[in-house]
Amino acid sequence: MLEDKDRIFTNLYGYQPWTIDAAMKRGDWDNTKVLLDLGPDAIIQIMKDSGLRGRGGAGFPTGMKWSFMPKEPKPGKPNFLVINADESEPGSCKDREILRHDPHKLVEGALVAGFAMHARAAYIYVRGEYIREAETLFAAVAEAYAKGFLGKNACGSGYDFDVFVHRGAGAYICGEETAMLESLEGKKGQPRLKPPFPAGAGLYGCPTTVNNVESISVAPTILRRGAAWFSSFGNENNRGTKLFQISGHVNRPCVVEESMSIPFRELIEKHAGGIRGGWDNLLAVIPGGSSVPLVPAAQMMDAVMDYDGLRALGSGLGTAAVIVMDKSTDIVRAISRISYFYKHESCGQCTPCREGTGWMWRVMERLREGNADISEIDMLQEVTKQVEGHTICALGDAAAWPIQGLIRHFRPEIERRILAKQGGAAPLAVAAE
Ligand SMILES: Cc1cc2nc3c(=O)[nH]c(=O)nc-3n(C[C@H](O)[C@H](O)[C@H](O)COP(=O)(O)O)c2cc1C
Ligand code: SF4
Repeated sequence: MLEDKDRIFTNLYGYQPWTIDAAMKRGDWDNTKVLLDLGPDAIIQIMKDSGLRGRGGAGFPTGMKWSFMPKEPKPGKPNFLVINADESEPGSCKDREILRHDPHKLVEGALVAGFAMHARAAYIYVRGEYIREAETLFAAVAEAYAKGFLGKNACGSGYDFDVFVHRGAGAYICGEETAMLESLEGKKGQPRLKPPFPAGAGLYGCPTTVNNVESISVAPTILRRGAAWFSSFGNENNRGTKLFQISGHVNRPCVVEESMSIPFRELIEKHAGGIRGGWDNLLAVIPGGSSVPLVPAAQMMDAVMDYDGLRALGSGLGTAAVIVMDKSTDIVRAISRISYFYKHESCGQCTPCREGTGWMWRVMERLREGNADISEIDMLQEVTKQVEGHTICALGDAAAWPIQGLIRHFRPEIERRILAKQGGAAPLAVAAE
């Protein structure tokens, strides 16, 4: 288990004030100029050496992403950092704790990350529903300006850097990085075709990097404590500490910072008080937020909670939003509800996503009721394959994967419902291999 001394987020639960004076006592903004004096190239190298991978879901190496930004911005084309605080994936609730309890980790991170990327400013895009969180963040940014940590000659470094907080209006798709840029520009939040990638042409056509709140917030601590310290946690290729969000049928749902690669059983026992009704009562887990395929209990018990460990089980770490379902769960209904979410949030640009998400949800509802033909299970699987990989953004994949996971692991349960509805023999067991 991660020791307290190795936790980056020391005010995750809000036991102390979030304010700048309290944050400085915790070590934030501690002579930030020294970090900036390292210079952009050295900062990026430390981030690369730390092994940090993006915490927004896709897990792209953070230092490498920063290195794609132009080192000498052209006149009239400044570099920008955009920080993704949209956090709308069902199950995900970690960035929220940073915003409301430890916002100075993010604001200081914005400065060092922006500096490393030669950025003129950072825009923090906050999910519309996070009203109190946005209020705290606005106040934290104002505090940092008042102390001279942001703005002209930030932290006495000779470098000018601004941070703007922007509130979204409540659309999940605005969490997709290019939709976020459109939304920031005042347009309808719909993803852009890539290429060009944001590092080439992003916000207002200028070079831009989009990073998740957690990715940016850990940067100052990595620079202070060193790449070797951060990379001492987790397995090869899966380094560092990570905020896990455990929800559903556990005894104590929580958000907790732990070492990457922690075994699932240890994570749940140590921090969530175990599975409701005991381990034999576990049915399945969605380990990385609603878009990743579920993993049945038997495979999940010994899962390694990192990118590679969960990919080996046909799922993914995603945002590390761990949704635990015990045997009281109607698993077909649960996945159908997720399908409804993606149908609702599709921006409608691509036909496979616009039509497919609604189609898949309607079939899922009929499967939930058993009001279908057995052959339609294969047909649904086929449709998920026609959506997956055939759309502008990954929302299409996110809609397809949960259904694929259900069919892969719970086909007997889907068939049982259909047979029961038809009045045939209906085995009782909810089989999952
Ligand atoms: C439909 C969709 C929704 C997304 N929502 C979020 C989100 O709420 N927060 C987030 O950080 N990344 C989200 N992402 C991922 C972003 O596009 C982007 O990869 C991420 O912000 C990059 O940050 P990172 O490299 O620090 O992980 C979403 C992606 C898609 C396709
Ligand atoms: S995949 Fe869906 S959400 Fe993404 S751009 Fe296409 S229609 Fe919009």
